[in-house]
Amino acid sequence: MDVEEAVQSICDSTASLSEGCRLPVRMTGTSDWPLAEIISIKELSDSTTWYYVHYVDFNKRLDEWVTEEYLDTRKVQFPRKDGLTTGQNTGVTTPKRIPPVGERSRPASPITSPDIVNGSAVLAAALQKKINRKRKAVSTENEDSQDVPSTPTPRQSGSMVTHHDDVVTRMKNVQLIELGSHRIKPWYFAPYPQELCTMTCIYICEFCLKYRKSRKCLERHIKKCNLRHPPGNEIYRKNTISFFEIDGRKNKSYAQNLCLLAKLFLDHKTLYYDTDPFLFYVMTEFDSRGFHIVGYFSKEKESTEDYNVACILTMPPYQRKGYGKLLIEFSYELSKFEGKTGSPEKPLSDLGLLSYRSYWAQTILEILILAKPTGDNEKPQITINEICELTSIKKEDVISTLQILNLINYYKGQYIICINKETIDQHRKAMEKRKIRIDSKCLHWTPKDWSKRSKW
Ligand code: ACO
Ligand code: ZN
Repeated sequence: MDVEEAVQSICDSTASLSEGCRLPVRMTGTSDWPLAEIISIKELSDSTTWYYVHYVDFNKRLDEWVTEEYLDTRKVQFPRKDGLTTGQNTGVTTPKRIPPVGERSRPASPITSPDIVNGSAVLAAALQKKINRKRKAVSTENEDSQDVPSTPTPRQSGSMVTHHDDVVTRMKNVQLIELGSHRIKPWYFAPYPQELCTMTCIYICEFCLKYRKSRKCLERHIKKCNLRHPPGNEIYRKNTISFFEIDGRKNKSYAQNLCLLAKLFLDHKTLYYDTDPFLFYVMTEFDSRGFHIVGYFSKEKESTEDYNVACILTMPPYQRKGYGKLLIEFSYELSKFEGKTGSPEKPLSDLGLLSYRSYWAQTILEILILAKPTGDNEKPQITINEICELTSIKKEDVISTLQILNLINYYKGQYIICINKETIDQHRKAMEKRKIRIDSKCLHWTPKDWSKRSKW
């Protein structure tokens, strides 16, 4: 085949690609070629074509724009009218991609399953598959008069999300945010105003969470903004860690801006613009410049389903340092003060599930290991209900954790819990790593009975 023919063949194959096609795509920063779906195609003025792809077995936060070189057009599955894609070997695949002269031959796309790929993304992907994902509805109403988002508004129209809207909300729309001293790459779509999304970066005031289109605008804002901590009451302080309780009705603008910011990292949750029914617990770290937001969780003032957390987030620069578990621990501490058991709102995200599983396992193991025998020569005895009372973890989560840890055995007509030495050693090591803990003595808070109030 001569050069001209080869080039023609490449053009043909990519030209026939459309949204909905599935093909192996090289994941940026790796040498792996997982199956991906093309969500959108755009051509730039320099006539390069970019493809927005979703890796089928991976979390959406890995979705990205790639150029043609990242696509393996030898194994394209085309979308069918019924919404499915054609099989890999149906004979309707595009012509085999022939590398242009001078290009190194690309590695073969994987015939292996994605779980051969290394890294936590795989574990996350496997867990993700198990989670029954709720269709998200994104409301874009923003009461803050500073800007009005112009992205789709499924809730406002009251109609189903159209295909176009669906494509829009499936794609990351914000390239970068600057929050205090951090520059953060968003993971998911969030309905920031369209005109801000065309900018290379959205500048956010780390204290009031208002957003601006340029650093200059933010600097102007900071001169006027006298907040150095989240609004609301500081209900907890130990060393540099504080928690502020914010009422979604009383501090609506802050609560809405927090939800909008959080949406950049939360895929599956409804964006609550009606923040009235929620309380927000913002965790901060203090230094000479102020109280910097590390993470937060929201909580319904009244939950008929015993939820003690609606949404939970650690800001990405602070992730994987134990702050997620600290937020979770705090949420259960509140439940203990309320004298109730609680559970996070479902569905959990992949990372949410990992964090909760780990927190539940550690908390329950701690109780079991420390349990004392009731009499001489007796084994320690504890009921599931007692574990619930001590931890405020809801019964079903206690039971599922004991099952996952494989601790329950049926022996001589009764259920007994057996913990082997290895589990105890592993647990001790894990607990040593959990350096920062919630100290209940530092929580100054009395629960409110919201049902007795005529209005939140
Ligand atoms: N890959 C693998 N494991 C991870 C990862 C990761 N990327 N991130 C956290 N973990 C594990 C940790 O290893 C740790 O387990 P271990 O102690 O047994 O090793 C556990 O999860 C918790 O780690 P933390 O450092 O305490 O948690 P972190 O500060 O990273 O916060 C959180 C966890 C809040 C889930 C964070 O990942 C996040 O904000 N994600 C985006 C938003 C989200 O998904 N929130 C939960 C939605 S569900 C809900 O809202 C009810
Ligand atoms: Zn501000």
